[in-house]
Amino acid sequence: MFVAPRRSQARQVRTPSDQPSAPSSDTEVPVWDLPTRLFHWALVLAVSVTLGTGLFGMPQRLNLHLLAGGSVAVLLVFRLIWGLVGPAASRFSTALASPRRVLDRLRRADTATYLGHNPLAGAVLFGLLGLLGLLVVTGLVSLGGEEQRGPLAASLSWTTGRRAHGLHELLAWGVIGAVVLHLGGMLIESLHLRENLPAAMVTGLRRRPDAGAVELPALRPRRTLGAVAFVALVLLGGAWLASTWGTAPSGWSSLDEHPDQALFEAECGSCHTLYHPSLLAADEWTLVMQTLDEHFGEDASLMPEPAERITALLIEHGNGTWDTEAANELRGQQDPAEPMAVTSNRWWAEHHRDLEEAALASPDVRSPGNCEACHLDAVQGRFGGHRIDVPRSAQP
Ligand code: HEC
Ligand code: HEC
Repeated sequence: MFVAPRRSQARQVRTPSDQPSAPSSDTEVPVWDLPTRLFHWALVLAVSVTLGTGLFGMPQRLNLHLLAGGSVAVLLVFRLIWGLVGPAASRFSTALASPRRVLDRLRRADTATYLGHNPLAGAVLFGLLGLLGLLVVTGLVSLGGEEQRGPLAASLSWTTGRRAHGLHELLAWGVIGAVVLHLGGMLIESLHLRENLPAAMVTGLRRRPDAGAVELPALRPRRTLGAVAFVALVLLGGAWLASTWGTAPSGWSSLDEHPDQALFEAECGSCHTLYHPSLLAADEWTLVMQTLDEHFGEDASLMPEPAERITALLIEHGNGTWDTEAANELRGQQDPAEPMAVTSNRWWAEHHRDLEEAALASPDVRSPGNCEACHLDAVQGRFGGHRIDVPRSAQP
């Protein structure tokens, strides 16, 4: 009903309805339509970047990872719609086969030539798309809970994000497995048929099959319906993202409105980074404040009244009251022998081991405790992976 009449006359039973731009010859038939080919190669690129950044670039490459992951999400929306309204070779209905037929293909009981997806290739397609969809979802949950960013930041705890992160990593290995199966299957089929199947995903053309091949049904692509559904879904997604933009994350609050924040900044941020209250627990802060006259070799003592107000602020906002990644990771890991030094925290030490020496030697950092030199959001207590910028002079 959405197809212009002029197109229907070009219908042939043998060829799928959406003609690739290249003309078909006696020896070749069009199979993969242009949108499906573009989708395929864009997905290859987006998944490669997401896997590369996810496995090797974290936490610093988080923003690139999110960009590529977001592209995967948009591509999946397209493929979902195209699988319902696209031409025959791209339709889910032609790729879907019963488990028995998949098994037959696997056991080589079914050796037919398929113009579109054979039953096994169809199963791998669904597996891959499903895994990628789950990766997008667990990625959003992990981002919202652990990093306190993205559309779910206001509603998720760090622990939930952490669990989703574990699942996200597991699924990523699943995707690698599915890609290996896909490539392996492609290679075996190509050798078996003596046909360059990857090239078919570039040109869209496949060799005209012999008699007995499983051909594709004549299905008309419903382009207009597809375009409308795609735009509607992307707009809906965009509206959802926009509606959550700037909502306060659940795990942290701004100290800016605290009446004593300015005092805290002035007294405790003059000699070094303003260590965020979430970095130490209440009793550790109490100890710091009680020993200011002998503070890491310096006299940092204060008059009783401001000292009391700062102590109250630190206790009120100590480690136990925050649900950020830093607060959760540092919690319970403080070295009892040095309860006042964040840089003695076991988790901290483990994550900065490679950096300590270079940081000490660097004129831009000078001390590993100079969090601000590398973490652009240290003063807010966020320590987001995307806000780490180690000065060149301090790179090990
Ligand atoms: C007179 C300078 C001075 C003032 C003022 C000062 N500090 Fe310090 N502080 C130091 C020095 C020096 C160190 C140890 C070297 C370093 O880590 O930079 C230190 C270290 C620390 C550390 C441990 C950091 C680590 O290495 O893990 C904490 C926590 C801390 N200070 C909190 C405070 C608080 C809270 C205040 C405000 C009440 C304060 N400091 C005021 C000089 C000062
Ligand atoms: C010389 C640069 C440098 C300094 C100084 C530094 N960090 Fe880091 N920090 C890094 C780098 C690089 C990473 C990423 C390490 C990793 O996990 O692979 C990191 C990771 C972290 C993380 C985990 C972030 C994440 O998303 O995985 C936290 C939390 C953190 N640092 C807190 C601190 C605190 C608190 C201080 C000060 C006491 C500090 N850092 C000082 C460079 C620095």
